[in-house]
Amino acid sequence: MEILDGKHIAQTIRQELHEQVESLIRRGMRVPSLAIVQVGNNPASTTYVTNKLKACREVGFNARLVSLPADISQQQLLAKINELNSDNSIDGFIVQLPLPSHINETTVTCAINYHKDVDGLHPHNVGLTALGLPGIVSATPRGIRELLMRYGITTEGKHVVVIGRSNIVGKPMAMLLMQKPYLSLPKMSAASLGDATVTLCHSKTRNLKQICLTADIIIVAVGQPNLLTADMVSEGTVVVDVGINRIDDPSSEKGYRLVGDVDFQHVAPKCSFITPVPGGVGPMTIVSLLQNTMQVYMDSITV
Ligand code: GUN
Repeated sequence: MEILDGKHIAQTIRQELHEQVESLIRRGMRVPSLAIVQVGNNPASTTYVTNKLKACREVGFNARLVSLPADISQQQLLAKINELNSDNSIDGFIVQLPLPSHINETTVTCAINYHKDVDGLHPHNVGLTALGLPGIVSATPRGIRELLMRYGITTEGKHVVVIGRSNIVGKPMAMLLMQKPYLSLPKMSAASLGDATVTLCHSKTRNLKQICLTADIIIVAVGQPNLLTADMVSEGTVVVDVGINRIDDPSSEKGYRLVGDVDFQHVAPKCSFITPVPGGVGPMTIVSLLQNTMQVYMDSITV
């Protein structure tokens, strides 16, 4: 069994991005710039946002936090988004989710200028991904694709089971995996992912265990500790755990620890490759956001 070390791969990609930024600076050009909008102060969101801003600064991007109160009206938030849409000093921005319950996430996502939508969540970018056309790919699926590619794991003809049908992970992941690779990544190497036989499972799926037992690769993105157990996994399967769940742990300094959706201890020995939590998909999601920002920046200077 080999660990898919997202922390290490993300560090390598940050180094690559840093070198690209240095080269821009040497040529007297401006550096890419990302803004993050956070509404309220949900502790998990604060951790993610802090890590995203830190990663941005590490590679030399400009990074701006737009912190808004939890009781901001939807209209005020939309006005702020419009401001960022027309701010030429910002290449891309994201609105950290979840939002307070009085704000409609779909309305907010649709209000973002899709050229600046570095989360890849706007219907325009989701549509491009569905059609296999170049656009901005949702950060977590992009990160998983990169992680598999860098470990030389191919998907052609393989049965990939995706568990979870979220707009942010499950659906775009399934779309990327089933595509003809040359359609999805025209500017990149032929060693891209795609051509898989994809089964998308969710909470109403019957026989989840039987389906998982026929998988070559299982990607779990549900948000439920121990959802994937050892009896559901065949020998040699690749397992990608997208879950990041906080569970109480009085023995830890913070009072909690992070676990994924996979019963790692019992599943790992059966796998050919598996991602750990933390240190697997999480760092790849953050670095994908940086790659999306660099992509938007490059498009803006080459048109
Ligand atoms: N909340 C959890 N993951 C994400 C993400 O990738 N993007 C945004 N905007 N919010 C999130």
